[in-house]
Amino acid sequence: MANGKLLRQLIKSGVRGDTSGFRAASEAVIQEEREKNHHLLANDLERLLYGDRASAGDERKLHALVDLPSNKDSGMALLEERVVIRDEKDIILSDATHAALDEILMEHNRADVLRSYGMRPAEKLLFCGPPGCGKTLAAEVIAHSLSLPLILVRLDSVVSSFLGETAANLRKVFDYIASRPVVALFDEFDALTKDRGDSADHGELKRSVNAVLQMMDGYRGDSILIATTNYETLLDKAVWRRFDEVIRFELPSMEQIKRLLSLKLSGVRRDFEPDDGRIATQFKGMAHADIERVLRRAIKEMILSGREFLEKSHIDAALAREYRHKD
Ligand SMILES: Nc1ncnc2c1ncn2[C@@H]1O[C@H](COP(=O)(O)OP(=O)(O)OP(=O)(O)O)[C@@H](O)[C@H]1O
Ligand SMILES: [Mg+2]
Repeated sequence: MANGKLLRQLIKSGVRGDTSGFRAASEAVIQEEREKNHHLLANDLERLLYGDRASAGDERKLHALVDLPSNKDSGMALLEERVVIRDEKDIILSDATHAALDEILMEHNRADVLRSYGMRPAEKLLFCGPPGCGKTLAAEVIAHSLSLPLILVRLDSVVSSFLGETAANLRKVFDYIASRPVVALFDEFDALTKDRGDSADHGELKRSVNAVLQMMDGYRGDSILIATTNYETLLDKAVWRRFDEVIRFELPSMEQIKRLLSLKLSGVRRDFEPDDGRIATQFKGMAHADIERVLRRAIKEMILSGREFLEKSHIDAALAREYRHKD
C-alpha cells in the first residue's frame, strides 16, 4: 500500500482539482506499487489514470474549474466536476448505440459546418436503459472525445425544500452551463420523482423535474446536456420531444460480453481466451457493470489463492457469490 504522505498528496490535489499534482501523486503511487512487485495493481492504476494508453500524452482529465455554484442555504455544491479518463475504446456497445454516439461526436466535431447552414449539433441528449450498461460512462466518453469538462449536476442539492430556492439553484446551474462549453450530466434525473412516500413531497419533486426540463428547453449554448434514466416508461412523449436525440443502452449480447471480457481482462494473465463461449455464456443477461464486478472478484480470488493465472474456476466462484448476494 502506498505511504501516507503520497496518499495525502493524492487526495489533497484531487480535492483541489490540481491536475498536475494529482497526476504526479498518482504516478508516484504506481511506481511505488511496481517496485513492490504489485504489477496487477500497478497496471490497474495505470489504466485508471491513462485509460488504455501507455503514456498520459496531452489528455485533459480535470479542468480545475473555478466558481462552481453551490446551494445558498446549505452550501452544498450544485455542480461537481468528474475526472474524465475513459474514451471510446473503453466502452462496449451495440452497433446501433455506438453509431448513435459516433453521430453525435461527428456533429460536434463538425459544428462549424452545421452552423454555416444555420443548424446546431445535437446538444440535448437522453440516455435510457437498465442500470450498469454505460449511460454515465458514455457521458464521460463524449467529454473525453470533445475535450470538454464533465460536470455532474447534483440534483439532490438543486432541489430545495425552501420555496423559490429550487428555481434559484436551477438558474445558477444553467447560467454556469451557458457560461462555458461543458458536458453537463443530469444523472438519473427522473429518480427524483420516485421512491418518495409523501405525496406532497412527490408533487414538489415532480415539479422540480418539470422545471429542469423547462430550463433545458430554453437552453441555447455550446454545452452538451445529457439526462439519463432507467425508467423510459416513466417519461411521456412530451418529455422525449424535448431532447434532440434519445439513445438506448442495452444489456450486452454474447458478442459484446466477449469483447467486454477481453477489454476488462486485457492486463490479466489467464488460462483461457476471453472469447471462450463457455465463459461468456455464464454472463448472459447481466449488465456490463455486474460483469465487471464479478471479474474484479474473480481476480481477487486468484490473487488471494496465490495463483498466477486467472482460471475458469475463479470466475465460477465469483459468479456463485454474485448469485448468492441476489438470493
Ligand atoms: N457499455 C459498457 N462498456 C464497458 N464498461 C461498462 C459499460 N457499461 C458499464 N460499464 C462499467 O460499469 C461501470 C458503471 O456503468 P455506468 O455507471 O456507466 O452505468 P449506467 O448505465 O450509468 O448505470 P445507472 O443506470 O445505474 O446509472 C462503468 O464505469 C464501467 O466501468
Ligand atoms: Mg449512471
